[in-house]
Amino acid sequence: MRARIGVIGAGYVGLVTGACLASLGHQVTLRDIDAAKVGMIGGGEPPFHEAGLREIMHEYGDRLRATLDLREMLANSEIVFIAVDTPPTHSGDADLSRVMTVLDELEAIGPDATRGHILVMKSTVPVGTGERVRAEMDRRGLGDVGYCSNPEFLREGAAITDFMRPDRVVVGDFRAADGDAVAALYESLGAPILRTSVPTAEMIKYASNAFLATKISFINEIANVCEEVGADVTEVAEGMGLDARIGPAFLSAGVGFGGSCFPKDVSALKQLAGNSGYHFQLLTSVIEVNELQKRRVVGKLKRHLGDLEGMEIALLGLAFKPGTDDMREASSLVLAGRLLAEGARVRGYDPVAVEAARHRLEAVDLHEDPMACVTGADAVVIVTEWPEIIGLDWVRVAQVMRGRVLVDGRNALDPAALVAAGFSYEGIGRVVPS
Ligand SMILES: NC(=O)c1ccc[n+]([C@@H]2O[C@H](COP(=O)([O-])OP(=O)(O)OC[C@H]3O[C@@H](n4cnc5c(N)ncnc54)[C@H](O)[C@@H]3O)[C@@H](O)[C@H]2O)c1
Repeated sequence: MRARIGVIGAGYVGLVTGACLASLGHQVTLRDIDAAKVGMIGGGEPPFHEAGLREIMHEYGDRLRATLDLREMLANSEIVFIAVDTPPTHSGDADLSRVMTVLDELEAIGPDATRGHILVMKSTVPVGTGERVRAEMDRRGLGDVGYCSNPEFLREGAAITDFMRPDRVVVGDFRAADGDAVAALYESLGAPILRTSVPTAEMIKYASNAFLATKISFINEIANVCEEVGADVTEVAEGMGLDARIGPAFLSAGVGFGGSCFPKDVSALKQLAGNSGYHFQLLTSVIEVNELQKRRVVGKLKRHLGDLEGMEIALLGLAFKPGTDDMREASSLVLAGRLLAEGARVRGYDPVAVEAARHRLEAVDLHEDPMACVTGADAVVIVTEWPEIIGLDWVRVAQVMRGRVLVDGRNALDPAALVAAGFSYEGIGRVVPS
C-alpha cells in the first residue's frame, strides 16, 4: 500500500517517522512551524543529530517534503500524524497546548480541507486526551475526521532501527476502519500490531515508560546499597538480567535518567493518577530516587576533594544519553547546577551536544576537545557514556589533570585499569580494587 501521509511536527519523532515511512514507499509531507527546521529538511539536512537519518533523508528525498503550510500538507495527505511536543507544565501534567493549537488550525482551515483524513496521535499524551480531541473535533465541525492513537516507542540514538524494527506497534481507534488504515502502514515491518481502544493505547505508552524508569531507579537503589555492603552492582545486574523473567535491559546503575521522555512521562502519569484521585506511591519514589541519584555524585566528589570551592570539575558527556544532541532534562544540567552552587568551576565536553548545551550551561566552560576539557581538572565525571569518552587514553588523561579523581557515573570503565593509571576511581555501586 502506498499512502499519502502528513506529519505535523518535524522534531525527533516527526522527522524520523516521516523519513522512515518515506523509506517504506509512502509519500510524506512534513509540516512544522519552525522555518529554520523546514528549510534544513528541505535541503536534505536533519536539524538534529541522529545516526542514519541523513542517509535515509537523502535516499528517499523524492518522497519526503517539508512545508510551513498546513493547507499544503493536508492537500497532499490522507493520514496525518501529530508529533508535536508535549512538554511538562509546572504542575508536572503534560502540556497539551501544541496539540490544541493544531485543532485550532484545522478548524480555521475548515472541514473541506480535512474531509476523509485520519489524525494519528504519535505525541505522548495523557490517557483521556484522545476522547477529548474527538469531542473537540466533533464540536468544531470536524466530525468526519478519523482519530487513532499510535504511541511511539523509539529511543533517540537508535531511532531509525527502533522505528523500522519495533518490538510492537500499538494502534488504538474509535472506528475499526481508521485503525485498519493506520495498522496497514506498518504491516511490512512484520512486528506484532496490537489493536486496542484509544485510552488503552495511551496508557500502554505511559505504563511502558514508567516501568522502564522504575527499573532504572530500582537498580540505582541496589547500587547505593551495594556501596554500603561491598557488593558490585554490575555483577548483580548481570546475575539478575540472566533471569528471563527480569531481562538485562535498563539495569545499568548510573547518575539517573534524563531526556525528553522519561522524566516528563513518569511525572505526567503520576499527575494523571493524582488528578483521578489515586496516589501513585511507587512512581513518587521512582522520581525522588532519580533526583537524589544525580546529587550523589557531589557527595562522592566531596569525599575525595573536601570543599569543592574553586575546584575544577570536568563533566564528560552532556547530552542525556549517547547518540543524541538532546539536552532536555539531561543529568549534566542538574550536576553542573549543583557543582556551581558548591563554588566549583565546571567544564564540559560532548562529542555532538556542545552547541545544544551552550544556552543551557552558560556558566560552564564548554570544550569540543576532551583533552582540553580535562587538562588541569581536579576531578573528571563521566556523565554520558559516549564511545569517544570511554575510549580516551586514560593514562594521558591522568597525566594532564591537576588531581586524580574520576567519578564514572555510567560504570563504563574498568576500575582496575583506572586505579592502575593512578586514579582515585569511584563508580556507582562498584567494588574498586585498592
Ligand atoms: N524524543 C523521543 O525520544 C520521543 C520518543 C517517543 C515519544 N515522544 C513523544 O513525541 C512527541 C514529540 O517529541 P519530540 O521529541 O519529537 O519533540 P520535538 O520538540 O523534537 O518536536 C516537536 C516539533 O513540533 C513542532 N510544532 C509545535 N507546534 C506545531 C504546530 N502547530 N504545527 C507544526 N509543528 C509544530 C515544533 O516546532 C517541533 O519541531 C512528544 O509528545 C514526545 O513525548 C518522543
